[in-house]
Amino acid sequence: MATESSKRGIWNTRIGFIFAAAGSAVGLGNIWRFPYVAGEGGGGAFLIIYLICIAFICVPYLFAELSLGRHHQRNPVGAIKAITGPSGWLAVGGLCIVAGLMILSYYSVVAGWAIGYVAKDVIAPNTPFEEFIASPGLVITLLAIFMGLTLYIVAGGVQQGIERWAKILMPLLFVLMLFVILRSVTLEGASEGIAFFLKPDFSEVGFETIMVALGQAFFSLSLGMGAMITYGSYLPKRENILSSGGYVAVFDTSIAILAGFMIFPAIFALGFSPDEGPALVFVILPEVFAQMYLGGLIGVIFFLLLSVGALTSSISLLEVVVSYFIDEKKWSRKKSVYTIGIIAFILAIPTALSQGAVGFLSDMSYIFGDDGLFGQNDFLGVLDFFFGSLFLAFGAFFISIFVGWVWGAHYAAEEIQQGSTFSGNLMKFWIFMLRYICPIFIIVVIIGMFLDII
Ligand code: TRP
Repeated sequence: MATESSKRGIWNTRIGFIFAAAGSAVGLGNIWRFPYVAGEGGGGAFLIIYLICIAFICVPYLFAELSLGRHHQRNPVGAIKAITGPSGWLAVGGLCIVAGLMILSYYSVVAGWAIGYVAKDVIAPNTPFEEFIASPGLVITLLAIFMGLTLYIVAGGVQQGIERWAKILMPLLFVLMLFVILRSVTLEGASEGIAFFLKPDFSEVGFETIMVALGQAFFSLSLGMGAMITYGSYLPKRENILSSGGYVAVFDTSIAILAGFMIFPAIFALGFSPDEGPALVFVILPEVFAQMYLGGLIGVIFFLLLSVGALTSSISLLEVVVSYFIDEKKWSRKKSVYTIGIIAFILAIPTALSQGAVGFLSDMSYIFGDDGLFGQNDFLGVLDFFFGSLFLAFGAFFISIFVGWVWGAHYAAEEIQQGSTFSGNLMKFWIFMLRYICPIFIIVVIIGMFLDII
């Protein structure tokens, strides 16, 4: 799909970009993370806050990342440098690269579990989830397999491989989810779960819930650390940023909502509690499959597709870091991929061991107290909160200020206009959202959350 002979890749087809970007967005965030953070955040109330964040903060912000990337056709650091020259803003780009590496590290651990669950009946039959993720040899092997696949694809050119596959496999994931939902909602007692997911109860909502919903919205759309800057940088000028970005947001949000309908009815029907945390999907879904005709087979296919979804996301995380070394340090693609891949793998090991294998990584109450850091006391949970929520919000705060005020929203709007009709009130509205609403909302949520803790 791209002219791989040219020095920098470029998406060849519009649909190619949409699938690659949707592939980045749709992943563990939708199917693993969304249900458990929504479950902990009170279900329906969380869903509403999440949807508001997507529509009013994330979508306008997505256009800012895409236009910044496409304008100078650079990675996050390069794109900022092309505008300001050497300046303090480069630190924002640099932090994006660090966050990409950190998110990639723990993301690959969870993706490894998903791969393991494809073959669970063979490699660890009858092993409960808690035991499965606490087996060091097993999880590190799975991590290595997943990381290896990610490196292989990014090294070989994203265009020919992942995107072609994403086009086939993403719709398949969608269809399969519909089947699982059908089973889930017809289980006895499912209606309570549907009510939990759809009936908002705002009584427990505080800044922490809003922060987690906002963080989840950024995470799910791959925003706040320059992934969409990087993907935007491969976008030809003729492409319509508005409609392509819109498709990505709609697709991603639909999959998250479907995941809710897949999990919540089953949780209540099977007598689990929605605030099980990160284990939620891995514990509940196998129980649902067990109650389905050909459930074993459906389980295998499901986890296979989830692994593919994770792969199309992890490559975008790696690609951010790799594109930085290619553009700025003039490394070859292969050298960048393998050097960074090895670093990410090493960084991921403590996370892999943080689910019961090693005590001081699994329970960090000696640092974060008995309540943990926002309820998380294992190294994976801590990293996920820190980089997967808080950092993304900070990143988006600075990047929206950068695009809105430093580069200038009008230049960004001009960039968007190439390829799409973007003028008049719509443009004014976007500029207003980007310059005022996005940064103010984000910073109020962050500050409110910190004040809440003290
Ligand atoms: N959005 C992906 C998911 O939902 C994860 C992901 C890929 C990501 N690239 C990202 C998250 C960049 C944050 C930033 O699974």
